[in-house]
Amino acid sequence: MKYTDLKKFPTNFLWGASTSAYQVEGAWNTDGKGPSVIDIKRIPEGTTDYKVASDHYNRYKEDVALMAEMGFKTYRFSIAWTRIFPNGTGEVNKKGIEFYSNLIDELLKYNIEPLVTMYHFDLPLALHERGGWGNRETVDAFEQYAKVLFEHFGDRVKYWLTINEQNMMILHGSAILGREASKKELYQQNHHMLVAQAKAMVLCHQMLPNAKIGPAPNIAYIYPASSKPEDVLAANNFNAIRNWLYLDMAVFGRYNHVAWSYMEEHGYTPTIEDGDMEILKNGKPDYIAFNYYSSKTVEASKGDGNDLNNTGDQEIVIGEAGVYKGHTNEHLEKTEFGWEIDPTGFRITLREIYSRYNLPLIITENGLGAFDELENDGTVHDPYRIEYLGKHIEQIQLAISDGVDVFGYCPWSAIDLVSTHQGCKKRYGFIFVNRDEFDLMDLKRIRKDSFYWYQNVIKTNGEQL
Ligand code: BG6
Repeated sequence: MKYTDLKKFPTNFLWGASTSAYQVEGAWNTDGKGPSVIDIKRIPEGTTDYKVASDHYNRYKEDVALMAEMGFKTYRFSIAWTRIFPNGTGEVNKKGIEFYSNLIDELLKYNIEPLVTMYHFDLPLALHERGGWGNRETVDAFEQYAKVLFEHFGDRVKYWLTINEQNMMILHGSAILGREASKKELYQQNHHMLVAQAKAMVLCHQMLPNAKIGPAPNIAYIYPASSKPEDVLAANNFNAIRNWLYLDMAVFGRYNHVAWSYMEEHGYTPTIEDGDMEILKNGKPDYIAFNYYSSKTVEASKGDGNDLNNTGDQEIVIGEAGVYKGHTNEHLEKTEFGWEIDPTGFRITLREIYSRYNLPLIITENGLGAFDELENDGTVHDPYRIEYLGKHIEQIQLAISDGVDVFGYCPWSAIDLVSTHQGCKKRYGFIFVNRDEFDLMDLKRIRKDSFYWYQNVIKTNGEQL
């Protein structure tokens, strides 16, 4: 649909950007922080670990000042569970509380609204060793952790996110977390995470009546490779399994029927304890946050053994025999890392989520990973990132014109950090961090061209892209 005049971005639109604790902070064992699953992760050869990352733990003031200079209205970051509870449960680590308290105060000093993810992939190792999300106790541990976060930060944090990309941990856990699990186990973990999320949402509303909380899955609309009904059905299958399973549960408190039938057919259905469905019904989000990098395209699976199980990374679809098969969309370009680029798919995804759930939306990740280069004169030219982000912001405005209620945009990432499985040379930030895969150099912060560009986007409230 074309419009003569586009609706403007709302005046209080939350422009910002995102990071996650383990990918940016470093200080992996400082001030009482306990180990998480990230510290035992199988690190792909040739890429760095997460021990120092971007050293944000020690340089957060400088980083926040740069975010303020860009004009951020919000900053989405995650709290490392193991800074608060080094063993996942038990004693609270005061130093961990102090760090995030200081970070929040620093943001508020510049009128930057903290947008806090409670859990972004870094499950405490102590919980993992007792079965992780497969163990029901982890649900209670998460509820306890949520309570401590609300108690200590709820006076200053209005926007909460429960679990980052739960759907990607289930579908692509091997790439992100570096370990394998059977699908039966994964869907049990999934159920426990859904219950934990619902409990956190209930608790948030009880303890902090003025706060808002929502889920943060990775949602990408799935296209059929052709108008062949079998391809359309495959897209419908994958939409249910990848996207709606998570949001139907978060919003309506019920399992999506197609996803459930898929689990039944394959013997993946989880054990549901008495009272779970009631908890799931009671957990109500105030908004939906989601991460979007690209649409996905699938064709019908012939179930002939050519469809491998889904083992690509977050943005690469392989397929599942008899359910769907990944298909390269010939209409789309790809990033250097093989991820398709689809700004129009962003608008479609925004529309679709809003039509299904009718809740305000905020984008908590969207961005382009690239091998940025620092020039001899100290500049970093990243026109490809500006182009990518500009085209996606355009689509948000179109979605707003379609009547979608979008209240914020936080691209990935505020500052360079370590990617989930492709090291630190795969950069996403507006701020360059001067380090190499194995040489920490001086970790100096350098404004990229996209830094100045985004500053102006925010200043003009999205009018100049
Ligand atoms: C999302 C994650 O899947 O994509 C982030 O929430 C991640 O943690 C981002 O960094 C980009 O992916 P990658 O694999 O390039 O780091």
